[in-house]
Amino acid sequence: MDFKSLFRQKPIQSVLHDPESSPHGAMNRTLTVRDLTFMGVAAVIGAGIFSTIGSAAFKGGPGVSILFLITAVTCGFTALCYAEFAARVPVSGSAYTYSYVTFGEVIAWIIGWALILEYAIGNIVVAISWSAYFNNILQAIGIHLPQWLTIGYQSAAMEYRDALETGKAVEELAYTLAPGIGDFKFIVNLPAFIIVILVTWLVLIGIKESKSTANGMVILKIVILILVALIGIWYIFSEGTTSNWTPFLPNGMKGVLAGVSGVFFAYIGFDAISTTAEECKDPQRDLPRGMIYSLILCTVIYIVTTLVITGMVNYSEFENVTDPLAYVFDKINMPLVGFIVSVSAVVAATSVLLVFQLGQPRIWMSMSRDGLLPKRFSNIHPRYRTPSFATFVTGLLVGIPVLVIDDGLVTDLTSIGTLFAFVLVCGGVLILPRRPKEPGKFNLPYINGKFIVPLLVVAAIVGFRNRLGAAFSNLGHEGYQEVLFILFMVLAVYIAVMSFIRNYSLIPVLGMLCCSYLMIEIPSQSWLVFFGWMAFGLIIYFLYGAKNSKLSKG
Ligand code: ALA
Repeated sequence: MDFKSLFRQKPIQSVLHDPESSPHGAMNRTLTVRDLTFMGVAAVIGAGIFSTIGSAAFKGGPGVSILFLITAVTCGFTALCYAEFAARVPVSGSAYTYSYVTFGEVIAWIIGWALILEYAIGNIVVAISWSAYFNNILQAIGIHLPQWLTIGYQSAAMEYRDALETGKAVEELAYTLAPGIGDFKFIVNLPAFIIVILVTWLVLIGIKESKSTANGMVILKIVILILVALIGIWYIFSEGTTSNWTPFLPNGMKGVLAGVSGVFFAYIGFDAISTTAEECKDPQRDLPRGMIYSLILCTVIYIVTTLVITGMVNYSEFENVTDPLAYVFDKINMPLVGFIVSVSAVVAATSVLLVFQLGQPRIWMSMSRDGLLPKRFSNIHPRYRTPSFATFVTGLLVGIPVLVIDDGLVTDLTSIGTLFAFVLVCGGVLILPRRPKEPGKFNLPYINGKFIVPLLVVAAIVGFRNRLGAAFSNLGHEGYQEVLFILFMVLAVYIAVMSFIRNYSLIPVLGMLCCSYLMIEIPSQSWLVFFGWMAFGLIIYFLYGAKNSKLSKG
């Protein structure tokens, strides 16, 4: 195959009139803007706000609410770009399909492969968090599962090793208590596995069932988060704990930015609804609205929740707290509210699991229709009208790792993969041909970035001059993180020049730059795994997709 064919593009018209994705192509069109907004919230509010917010608040103090705002704005730029694409290419496949019509096949494959990190690998983190909260609930009602049935092998082994190194007792640890033969220990996270299987089954039996389940769960989690906020605000002002908000930035912006991966993880999901385009009543009008409404709703909830928990309890107490929302209520002697919070954390994580288990097979379905994956991935179940084989494989891909894996690295990997997809979606909008405004369809507002982008980049260079200087002088010793920072600055200058020459639209440019910046704040060892994952994907593409692509067959 020659170099040019790597970038062969799928014509938008052929995507829109693909017989397999047209109405008789079999999926049920039942989703409205309300369902989509609910589905967005279902996908977004989950493990992030109930778990990772704790360590972010510990690092950044109450000011981490600023990071929620920065991340929301970044996601907002991206949501607008997704919306523009969704209005033009209203079929399943999300960022994968969008890049196929703009950047060409190999980039589309890379995106599809990166989206596995967002959907399937992201769900591994969510399932593990689900299991931890579920176990809390069981313990509160007096049911004690053996530890070796509630933790992954990798986490148990790490816990054991750490204890040995620091001289702590190991007798009560899961690794010591687990049954086994010789050095082989039987340690699995059984609740995480079971929930993945149950959710996969629900997704398999139909979009309608999944939709009503997601709607119910969303209402419950929003009501509980509002309750938490109200009780929290009442406590803060009646007990006079507002002093916890000062200093607002105890560790400066550096401390706030240390929470990027966790805070961004909390927003992942608003884009997932774009995978249901073929199941929407009016995707071109409703998908953009659903994405933006859900993003606004989640941002308000996150900022209020962050301010409430850091107002109730001093930020310095959140070190190693993995259930911060329940923790603050236990702390002020309201264990019942803490228990209710744990229940809603389980519900919230379930709804996130549901939406991602729903999204992953639909992306594979699109890739399979294009010939980049075997035909079976686009088979629609005759009775349930869902992509059954792809759903089954998703169940295995998430279900098996949750039995044994530790979620630390996986969170970073999910954030990098998702941000990477976002960068390409924003970049894709830049190279789309302009189109006339159409009533009833979303139109991305065009603001000329000719002067604004170069000015912003100059301001960033001035603002970052110390870090930039340090990065160059420490290049040899400080490793990859500084290389990433320098690469980001080079990208920013390149985009500024191109914006000046080509009058680039401001919103996608800001989306690209903000997402790239968040990416380089993620630890460099996670980047190495990310590169490994992408290289593995490219090998598969050259062995299978490049030869079987529908475009290669004309
Ligand atoms: N945003 C999703 C969550 O926080 C992934 O669980």
